[in-house]
Amino acid sequence: MPTLKTVVAFAAAMGLATSAYAAGETVVVAGATGKSGPALVKILGEQGYKVRAMVRDKAKASSLGAGVEVVEADVTKPETLGGALKGATYLISTVGATSPAPPNNPENVDFKGVVNLTDAAKTAGIKHFVLMSSIGAGDTKPETMLNKVFGMVLMWKGKGEDHLRKSGVPYTIVRPGGLADCEPGKVGLKIGAITEEMQGRICRSDVGLIMANALGNKDAAGKSINTISDDKAAAGAWKSAWAAVKKD
Ligand SMILES: NC(=O)c1ccc[n+]([C@@H]2O[C@H](COP(=O)([O-])OP(=O)(O)OC[C@H]3O[C@@H](n4cnc5c(N)ncnc54)[C@H](OP(=O)(O)O)[C@@H]3O)[C@@H](O)[C@H]2O)c1
Repeated sequence: MPTLKTVVAFAAAMGLATSAYAAGETVVVAGATGKSGPALVKILGEQGYKVRAMVRDKAKASSLGAGVEVVEADVTKPETLGGALKGATYLISTVGATSPAPPNNPENVDFKGVVNLTDAAKTAGIKHFVLMSSIGAGDTKPETMLNKVFGMVLMWKGKGEDHLRKSGVPYTIVRPGGLADCEPGKVGLKIGAITEEMQGRICRSDVGLIMANALGNKDAAGKSINTISDDKAAAGAWKSAWAAVKKD
């Protein structure tokens, strides 16, 4: 009789799953129609998860693939979130404000929207919420370039992160550097504590690999990380870096 370990190893070898956690569990991807969402949806599908795309407009989700469930919801409208999360095990958010000015601005999306999503995740019993944030989140200085041009986005992202940390929902906060559009898994990546000074860029798809890897990963739970690409590191070596980061 094959053991679970043997079955998972065989499935991984066949490219069917890369995680013992993947089989049949539903991951909700909020922000699935943004620039980071589609690569993440693809990665999760390849790892054997059932993917539910949470989008504002179903018409924009047609290219996500036939196996992807699509639900409409808006993080600024808490009444839309309960149904979108019902029955799901995991939640990953790549949501971000689309304008520096209201209504869909950083205060309403990166702060209040993350609060709404976190509270809905708690009610739904989500086992792990992975939040895509940004290096520098929590910076309250008005003169910092991103704050100046985009409605104090770093300050509001920091407030959203804080709510998640205190919520009791199991979480990981992934703070990438500047985002670029490129193939996943081609370069090395650096993962470090948010107190570590990091400046650089990273592929949106590589952030997707990191967030997928965080799901159900005890070495990632309760942690916030900064991440950028790192030409000197071996591709894939980042997976063992979680353990060295202290819990929040
Ligand atoms: N750009 C950078 O260099 C950079 C660097 C570090 C971190 N980040 C952060 O990383 C995350 C992903 O970045 P990205 O470039 O992939 O973002 P993006 O392309 O702007 O995608 C944002 C997603 O959020 C969704 N969204 C916006 N308001 C929403 C709302 N009220 N309710 C539900 N969904 C909503 C959008 O939906 P629609 O598709 O309907 O518009 C879109 O799918 C963002 O939080 C961003 O701030 C960006």
